[in-house]
Amino acid sequence: MFIYLLLLAVIATVEAQRVPGQQKTDSCLCKINSSTWTFPAVRFVEVTKQVQICEENLNEFEEKMSNTDAELPLMRATLQNITARLKAFNYLHTSGLYNALPLRQLNQELEEIHQSVNESHLQNPNKETHNLLSELNKAKNDLQRMYKDDFFNLETMKKRLRDLNNRAQTCKTIPNHFRSTCHQRIMTRISSPSVTKLNSISKSYISGAWGRDALLNNQERYWEHCLVSGHKHGNTIRVYNSHEDFMVNRNYKDEQIAPSYSDKNAVQGSGTILYDNTVFYQCYSTAEICSFNITTKTTKRVKLDDAGIDNKFPFCYYSCRDWTDIDLEADQDAVWVIYATQENHGNIVVSRLDPLELNITHTWKTHLFKRSVTSTFMVCGVLYATRYVSTYQEEVFYAFDTTTGKEINTLSLPFEKVSAGIANLNYNPVDGKLYLYNDAYLLAYDTFF
Ligand SMILES: *[C@@H]1O[C@H](CO)[C@@H](O)[C@H](O)[C@H]1NC(C)=O
Ligand SMILES: *[C@@H]1O[C@H](CO)[C@@H](O)[C@H](O)[C@H]1NC(C)=O
Ligand SMILES: *[C@@H]1O[C@H](CO)[C@@H](O)[C@H](O)[C@H]1NC(C)=O
Ligand SMILES: *[C@@H]1O[C@H](CO)[C@@H](O)[C@H](O)[C@H]1NC(C)=O
Ligand SMILES: *[C@@H]1O[C@H](CO)[C@@H](O)[C@H](O)[C@H]1NC(C)=O
Repeated sequence: MFIYLLLLAVIATVEAQRVPGQQKTDSCLCKINSSTWTFPAVRFVEVTKQVQICEENLNEFEEKMSNTDAELPLMRATLQNITARLKAFNYLHTSGLYNALPLRQLNQELEEIHQSVNESHLQNPNKETHNLLSELNKAKNDLQRMYKDDFFNLETMKKRLRDLNNRAQTCKTIPNHFRSTCHQRIMTRISSPSVTKLNSISKSYISGAWGRDALLNNQERYWEHCLVSGHKHGNTIRVYNSHEDFMVNRNYKDEQIAPSYSDKNAVQGSGTILYDNTVFYQCYSTAEICSFNITTKTTKRVKLDDAGIDNKFPFCYYSCRDWTDIDLEADQDAVWVIYATQENHGNIVVSRLDPLELNITHTWKTHLFKRSVTSTFMVCGVLYATRYVSTYQEEVFYAFDTTTGKEINTLSLPFEKVSAGIANLNYNPVDGKLYLYNDAYLLAYDTFF
């Protein structure tokens, strides 16, 4: 019996690793350090290389041994096992995370951010735009270096670009009154429910949305919207002109958003909001936002680039809520859309829409995985996210301030529910209340800052 060592040195990002192959009794062991399996996905390439080298050496070793009777079944099996386990990570390759192509995309994204910051700097030169410009130049140099050297860390660069992008978005001019009215305060408490009521249509409609017209100084208008057809689509919205009428299901008007719930202008999912007597929602089966102005009965639409739909990135904490890929929210002067993209790895992306033109003016990318959240709402340009605590309790645990690009992970603002499932939660800037569609129940809460 003898010991045969295959010493394979592989240069990884930070450390060199040795992969010894060892003959024991009648077999040869090729062990890859088990800590390899906890590797951040970034090291996929190195592990693949290790296995390939190990395989090559095994073949060589086998050739050398071919004149003897020794067999190498265990080593072969181990390699096959490792190769099989690596397959699971192969999508990292195929989804383009680890090849040279994204370098070009990164470069393009960097140019776009640079252009946007250049414009902001021309309009309103300040310390932040100045710093951003010099950081962008640094990032450009680093990217050039990544082109030249064979080795790079795409993930780190992508993260850096995401942060630079968020800061650039914040530098872009947002109307002054929008910033000044809100003072960037963070919510401190949510009351017990001040309204608890079954929706007026049917207890079987467990998905939908409700609230109050979110435009400041607009006529008082309460609305409820239920999804039919597998809790997926809808085409009408019920509108009341006072809170009293709403509470007793009286004097309402059912407005038609589309001729049927399978029309191309019908509603998909429970992310709907009413702002300026206009319904904003995800258009039927597409990654587009529709607005239907009830006053003029006109529909507009705008495409949301790269947004996941059809349960690709639903709200999913504890149990997945179907058709919650795209969530619309409103605050003082804008409508916001919350969604996730593959490019941002399923993490939440927030876009600000101009409600009249229905075009996207700003886009921020967060680090918050959309599937780890039950619902979101916006207050004064701050995104809040909730998670499930129990059937009867929910908690706001996260905030992202679009005016600073900062994330707060330490919030704990609990509030009560009457049932487990949340289809929609929205904040109303007129009365400062949160509106919750909780299975078939409609709840409202006061908020404190
Ligand atoms: C496995 O690798 C890690 C880091 O690469 C090292 O800290 C650890 O000691 C190694 N374990 C063994 C058993 O070699
Ligand atoms: C590989 O080996 C591990 C443990 O030795 C085992 O749990 C796993 O099922 C094996 N995988 C394959 C694909 O054979
Ligand atoms: C930004 O401005 C600088 C000089 O002011 C210029 O060199 C650079 O090309 C501009 N970048 C973009 C992307 O417009
Ligand atoms: C809806 O139409 C009314 C009447 O033309 C107009 O005043 C309002 O601004 C429109 N709102 C939106 C969001 O399109
Ligand atoms: C929004 O649309 C209007 C009119 O179509 C256009 O003037 C404006 O530049 C657009 N804004 C953006 C950010 O695309």
